[in-house]
Amino acid sequence: MSSDRLDRIRLSGDVPSHVAIIMDGNGRWASERGLPRHLGHREGMKAVREVIQAAVDAGVPNLTLFAFSTQNWMRPAAEVSALMSLLQLYARKERAELRKQGVEVKVLGDLSRIDEATRRAVDDIVEGTRGGTALNLNLLISYGGREEILHAARVLAERVRRGELSAEEIDEAAFEDAFFTRGVPSPDLLIRTSGERRLSNFMLWQLAYTELHVSPVLWPDFDREDLFEALLDYQGRERRFGRVASP
Ligand code: FPP
Repeated sequence: MSSDRLDRIRLSGDVPSHVAIIMDGNGRWASERGLPRHLGHREGMKAVREVIQAAVDAGVPNLTLFAFSTQNWMRPAAEVSALMSLLQLYARKERAELRKQGVEVKVLGDLSRIDEATRRAVDDIVEGTRGGTALNLNLLISYGGREEILHAARVLAERVRRGELSAEEIDEAAFEDAFFTRGVPSPDLLIRTSGERRLSNFMLWQLAYTELHVSPVLWPDFDREDLFEALLDYQGRERRFGRVASP
């Protein structure tokens, strides 16, 4: 499906190679309609579908979605359970379509905390989409940026203790190698929906030089045109990575 914005994105050519999204506002979307929160998450699943197709259409090679944070475990048990069921449903329902679209799914985070049924569904979607070349989709589940850095520090400390690594050899690459997101490039663009201007413990290390786009739209209403608007906003930025502007 073509759109004026998509044409402009393609003309510019500078498509971000990695877009990350904090999908926020499902609860408010539901409250505004007098519905229970879990129906907001369910509607959010439709937006996930639409944004993946739009990312493929725009030629974005890497997309990361923050689906469930370490801190989300502290929500009421019923909401946690509804979110896990939704992940299972998503994994089962979407696997064939994602495969057809050429989307390769990775699920990253502390997966030791998720239940057996969700784990199996997640393994199946990863296995069933392996080899897709149109888009790398990272679903971050049971993920926290601080927890990821602590985990990496422990892994590196253990390697030093075993004599496999010296303290001097601990550099950025060594840290990144011990992250859940190992092998995933840092995001060029972070989108947060629902107007909130916070990082909420998301990819704290990886976002060091990422461009930020805050959309006022609640996640269930976020559509392909909203993604294209964010990509156009990105294309208008000048990235300096701490240096001065080029002459
Ligand atoms: C934040 O909205 C959203 C979440 C905690 C869950 C995100 C999950 C989905 C979009 C659906 C499933 C995703 C996949 C990949 C299948 P919130 O509940 O914090 O909203 P609020 O701030 O309005 O309360």
